[in-house]
Amino acid sequence: MRKKIIAGNWKMNPNVNEALSLINELENKTHNLSLNGKKEIYVFAPYIYLYPFKTILDNSNIKLGAQNCSQFNNGAYTGEISALMLKEMSVNNCIIGHSERRQYFGDCDLVINQKLKKAFENDITPILCCGEKLEDRKNNLHFKVVEKQIIEALIDISKEDIKKTTIAYEPVWAIGTGETATPEQAEEMHVFIRNLVAKIYDEEIANNICMFYGGSVNAKNAKSLFAKENIDGALVGGAFLKAPDFLEIINSI
Ligand code: PGA
Repeated sequence: MRKKIIAGNWKMNPNVNEALSLINELENKTHNLSLNGKKEIYVFAPYIYLYPFKTILDNSNIKLGAQNCSQFNNGAYTGEISALMLKEMSVNNCIIGHSERRQYFGDCDLVINQKLKKAFENDITPILCCGEKLEDRKNNLHFKVVEKQIIEALIDISKEDIKKTTIAYEPVWAIGTGETATPEQAEEMHVFIRNLVAKIYDEEIANNICMFYGGSVNAKNAKSLFAKENIDGALVGGAFLKAPDFLEIINSI
């Protein structure tokens, strides 16, 4: 059975004092939840917070992750953080291929494929993001765009490794806009991706891979998205920066 996952992507937010108070509040409010190995909660925080958060989240229900990693292990790459460094800090999860990385930092499908390989090489569990832009959807190209993103990201990724991967479908037009995909639109794309994974690997892998939706998920719309059979959770940006909203989203899965 697939796990249910709620993951918060803090992006380049919040400032240090707010971050400390938010993580403490999240930890306090989730500490006694019994997740029974069936649900998981993640916080993907800015790199600089990961180390101090590790102490706060010791024995916590909240797992920690990074929002990106380099396609290299080490060397003269100013400003980069490698999957190897994350591993050495015992940060075991990482978002790869978020649309903001694709849009502002030139992460193309080839680079995303290289980053995924580095993640696996260093025992980091990745969340692979994909999703179409508004004009793609308007031109009915959304399936084609997502198909290319998935196929190219997964080049030479083994069956063993894909089993550890979570795929997040995040239509770019829904991220940070308040305009969520309808549960039907999200489910339709999740089914498409699951079928694609079955074609690349096999049915069993496709049925077991965890997939979640991201893009303006909030306390109000979470329940109807999670009601869909193929949506195993959410990657949440804005609503994750307010503990009450985040807790309501966790409770609705
Ligand atoms: P949002 O961000 O919930 O603020 O739309 C989601 C994401 O970018 O992962």
